[in-house]
Amino acid sequence: MNFEFKTFGLASAANEKCDVLIVLCNENKKTGKDPISELLASALNAGDLASKPGKFLVTYRPSGIASKHLVMACIGEGSPKDVKQAISASISAIKGKSAKKICLCFVDYPNADALASALMAVSEATYVYVTTKTKPEAREIQRVLINVPGGLKLKPTFDQAVATVAGVEFAKEWANRPANYATPTLLAGAAKALAKFPGIKCDVLGPKEVASLGMGSFMAVSQGSEEPLRFIVLHYNGAPKTQAPTVLIGKGITFDSGGISIKPAGEMDEMKFDMCGAASVLGVFRSLAELKPVINVVGLIPSCENLINGRAVKPGDVVTSMSGQTIEILNTDAEGRLVLCDALTYAERFKPRAVIDIATLTGACVVALGGVRSGLFSPDEALVSDLLAAGERSSDLSWRMPLDDDYADGLKSNFADVANVGGRAGGAVTAAKFLQRFAAKFPWAHLDIAGTAWKSGPAKGATGRPVPLLLSYLIALAKAK
Ligand code: BES
Ligand code: MN
Ligand code: ZN
Repeated sequence: MNFEFKTFGLASAANEKCDVLIVLCNENKKTGKDPISELLASALNAGDLASKPGKFLVTYRPSGIASKHLVMACIGEGSPKDVKQAISASISAIKGKSAKKICLCFVDYPNADALASALMAVSEATYVYVTTKTKPEAREIQRVLINVPGGLKLKPTFDQAVATVAGVEFAKEWANRPANYATPTLLAGAAKALAKFPGIKCDVLGPKEVASLGMGSFMAVSQGSEEPLRFIVLHYNGAPKTQAPTVLIGKGITFDSGGISIKPAGEMDEMKFDMCGAASVLGVFRSLAELKPVINVVGLIPSCENLINGRAVKPGDVVTSMSGQTIEILNTDAEGRLVLCDALTYAERFKPRAVIDIATLTGACVVALGGVRSGLFSPDEALVSDLLAAGERSSDLSWRMPLDDDYADGLKSNFADVANVGGRAGGAVTAAKFLQRFAAKFPWAHLDIAGTAWKSGPAKGATGRPVPLLLSYLIALAKAK
């Protein structure tokens, strides 16, 4: 999709030739003498345009307006949520009208987050998954003019939103792919393709290299599968080399059967989404390529399948992680932490300013927070407040969860330094406590996105979260420097 930023007034918007003109307004009195203001004023005066966000009026070939269809949509208070609702409603109203070029016109100056939300809403309302459809329905809308009267100051916000959309859509497409179209090797291929953009480099390690690094925990998860594992290392260099990077680690289990501790059959297909953390890291790099902020970022993706064959890891097996700590694998379905712990140890070599891991880690987090907020775990107060704020700005919310040491009690093992599971209670926290043992050497945060990375049911599909949160966090860092 092609977004263009315009700053002309309502009078010029009326002259803009497009298939659909969507005017985003509130109920304030309209006094302008241009055709759009007059139409709005008359609809509002007649009480025909309710002030509730999501309510709208559609007109065909309105006089004085060059566009074929006009949608007057109410955005209430103009919050990001209101704007999103207005745009989703308007776009579903014009579905099937073969609108190729649309113009979204803010009547009043929006705040920055609301403008960003407008672009995300268009993307969300028009995204179509393509990879494994023989005849994917084409995306009707090709060009989107976003008009903010006198809105020059919002150009950087617009650029950031365009980059976020590119990253979210990239993440969604990879996350939605079935496991046979998104193997560790194919995922590594996607990362390598990103290295074509200036500023991005990519190295991919295979089983031999990973073995010589001593990643015994990661290798144990992979050993029940015929697909070779991949350890993907991405670099985005936008700042001088002397500046410490932020490291993003994405869980890249391309399919999680549970292993010998096998999962029940119902909804097991959804475990193709167990690489949504990895997809979000790829998505962030896609966005960075677009936006080129002054910052250094490293992306690490430990990727493999969690399957079962005669060589598969067994409950009770003890493995040695790259950190040297031994781990008793009591449940082979708690595999995410086993691949992440070795990536955390690998991250030490970058002397990072912060490390954030992103993982569809626990069903317990879905129970705790549902699909609204991701679980945020970190002992670092500054990192917590920065990540929470980034989520608020980008409407990609998270919620701080506890890390009291008592939660680690269940991880004690009689046969190794640590077990990979505790009891059922507080499962999202014990998983985080396990990871924390491998994250002592840098400021660290863990995002459990099991509830937020995809939707189940009829709207089954990836959400692209938390690309907006992460990008917003990174851009704020770049600006602070
Ligand atoms: N990938 C799953 C977590 C998951 C489950 C995400 C359901 C979304 C929906 C993870 O690898 C897993 O299986 N975790 C186990 C941990 C348990 C064995 C301690 C879980 O949550 O059941
Ligand atoms: Mn699992
Ligand atoms: Zn998993």
